[in-house]
Amino acid sequence: MTLIFAHRGYSALYPENTMLAFKQAEQAGADGIELDVQLSKDGEVVVIHDESVDRTTNGRGYVKDLSYSDLKRLDAGFRVKTNLKKEPIPSLRDVLEWLTGNKMICNIELKNGIFPYQGMEEKVIELIREYKLEKRIVLSSFNHYSIVHCYRMAPEIETAPLMGQVVYMPWVYAESIRAKGIHPKYKTLKDEVILQSEQYGISVRPYTVNKEKNMAHLIKLGCSAIITDDPVRALRVRHRL
Ligand code: G3P
Ligand code: CA
Repeated sequence: MTLIFAHRGYSALYPENTMLAFKQAEQAGADGIELDVQLSKDGEVVVIHDESVDRTTNGRGYVKDLSYSDLKRLDAGFRVKTNLKKEPIPSLRDVLEWLTGNKMICNIELKNGIFPYQGMEEKVIELIREYKLEKRIVLSSFNHYSIVHCYRMAPEIETAPLMGQVVYMPWVYAESIRAKGIHPKYKTLKDEVILQSEQYGISVRPYTVNKEKNMAHLIKLGCSAIITDDPVRALRVRHRL
């Protein structure tokens, strides 16, 4: 069965990468969530997509220049609905703690392509181990060196390189870096690549799939999962097929 991962939580309706968006994804029946992590000035792993807080919060500046307590004061929900109460930027710890009370899978994307967050991989792995969530986490990144580094430290945690452009024979590439899956950009993905990869035991989880016809196509082809902003739509499509 193709699993449905809610991209930045149920971000079609709720503020991305907030506990509200994650909880709503779970309530909607999604199988998993995807989220992004960066490192604060004082070394806390925080859940936010951009390097700066400008787009998604009422604050300004780079995450790396703000302390965790500065970040906690910001509102990450203000852009989506004015009647919502304040939604803080979660720490990865907040999310992992919540995950211990449910059965969701969590895809943690390490946003370490622009700023070299020294020690971020180590911190993420330590937290996953602390909460004993090794079997329910997939670590992904556009920075494939980071993926290999994670595998070396924690081979028990699944890894999957993100691909903005699908590489030549990605299933072979995945195997070569000991990844069990690939997370390709949907628009660059060919049907044969999905079929071959899945046949060789490499899970294909394309992002970000929001149109019903594309969801149906990928589910019919047998993708292991799809990553979508709208898990309710994807669940409806899966149910229909
Ligand atoms: O993990 C898939 C997707 O989230 C990667 O792109 O920019 O949405 O983080 P982006
Ligand atoms: Ca992401």
